[in-house]
Amino acid sequence: MTRTRRDFIKLSSLSATAIGLGLVACNTKEDFKLAEVPDSERIKVGLIGVGNRGKSILKALEFVPEIKVSALCDTLEFQMDNAKQYISNKVETFTDFKSLLALKDIDAVIIATPLHEHYKIVMASFDADKHILCEKTLAYNIEECKEIKQRGNQSNKVFQVSYQYQLHPVFNAIKNIINQGYCGTITRIDCSWDRHSNWRRKLPSEDLERQINWRMYKEYSGGLVAELGSHLLNMVDNLLGTHPIKVLGTGGIDYWKDGRETFDNVHALFDYPNGVKVGFHSQLSNSYEGYQMKIYGDKATIISHGMKTAEIIPEGKKVDEKWKDNVDSVTGASIKIIDNDKKRKINPVKNENVIYPTDNDHFNVTWRLYKNFAAAIKGKESLLLGLKDGYQSAISVHMANEAIRNEKIVKWLPEYDV
Ligand SMILES: NC(=O)c1ccc[n+]([C@@H]2O[C@H](COP(=O)([O-])OP(=O)(O)OC[C@H]3O[C@@H](n4cnc5c(N)ncnc54)[C@H](O)[C@@H]3O)[C@@H](O)[C@H]2O)c1
Repeated sequence: MTRTRRDFIKLSSLSATAIGLGLVACNTKEDFKLAEVPDSERIKVGLIGVGNRGKSILKALEFVPEIKVSALCDTLEFQMDNAKQYISNKVETFTDFKSLLALKDIDAVIIATPLHEHYKIVMASFDADKHILCEKTLAYNIEECKEIKQRGNQSNKVFQVSYQYQLHPVFNAIKNIINQGYCGTITRIDCSWDRHSNWRRKLPSEDLERQINWRMYKEYSGGLVAELGSHLLNMVDNLLGTHPIKVLGTGGIDYWKDGRETFDNVHALFDYPNGVKVGFHSQLSNSYEGYQMKIYGDKATIISHGMKTAEIIPEGKKVDEKWKDNVDSVTGASIKIIDNDKKRKINPVKNENVIYPTDNDHFNVTWRLYKNFAAAIKGKESLLLGLKDGYQSAISVHMANEAIRNEKIVKWLPEYDV
């Protein structure tokens, strides 16, 4: 359903509070004017890295009038040419991120470069006293992550890491249902993100192989665990309210034997406090399950498919009265009977104060992340997720990669608790 201008005006008048909080967005360029923010009040942002993710961010920012993208930086000319079309205002362009950071009127930076470049750009952004939104995974190795965390702890600037799926309405619903005790004691979570794809990108010229296909090379990338697992590990940490204590794993280049260095088939098993075992696997030769999270408790199992839907299946034959159609008045989390008396659909939970710009939850969560980044910079909202989320999940990613690559059990060390 596409919202019309009239609908938007109706919603706008009903949502004065939400407008005050800067939470209202609109879905056409026309509507966009309704939420216009004076130029002097807009947060001036520089985007560093305008590849695939950078362009998705620019699309989301078209619906975030509090943010003005005033500068772009990329080392590849064709990426820059492509990206400029997403910006209607005048924008300065750079190939060296230090020149962008030297701009005094830039308040904040968004870092969407390949993983190996995150650390040096983040540290330089701290030096330049900018607010920072860094793409996941936080940094290339544990030492870099620790330094960023320590530096971030001393900074009074906003720091956010792009784990936007934590803001997804289906994930919100799952979290609410678990917090209400429907699952009971959780002992196991299995999560996966599988694809049937070689993960390669087309090259405009052969000499750009390593720059464009950086995900294939260890020098730049943490492979599937950093690129896909990182999101899932972040969500698991969020559900369990803690981080893993140890991990073991295995992996290989088992299908795409094309000169790549990062594994196309990985399995890791994490031990969390209180005996919760968390499995993560990801492969590039079968997409049947795609994204999936299964949560096993002594009262019920929750299964989330493709981040679009979730079901809850109670344990035992007799279904308790409280499992009948149920809506929690505080959280709005609800469970509906679906095809039989046992299996129930979990309905997504959206924040009712927020009018989302599209019907696409995938797009909306990135938009919501940026609305929150802007509101946090202006002191109007607290950060929905921040450096702690980014740091903790990055450590889990690196522990898992060490376990997988060296075939050993890797423990969370006390020195990681910075
Ligand atoms: N949050 C998410 O859902 C999500 C989704 C996709 C990618 N990502 C993350 O976003 C980041 C980028 O991924 P991508 O798929 O857009 O990669 P990409 O290769 O498409 O884009 C990266 C861009 O950064 C540029 N670049 C490299 N080094 C640079 C430097 N020193 N200065 C300026 N520009 C530089 C490259 O030329 C390229 O245009 C990665 O960290 C990735 O994990 C996050």
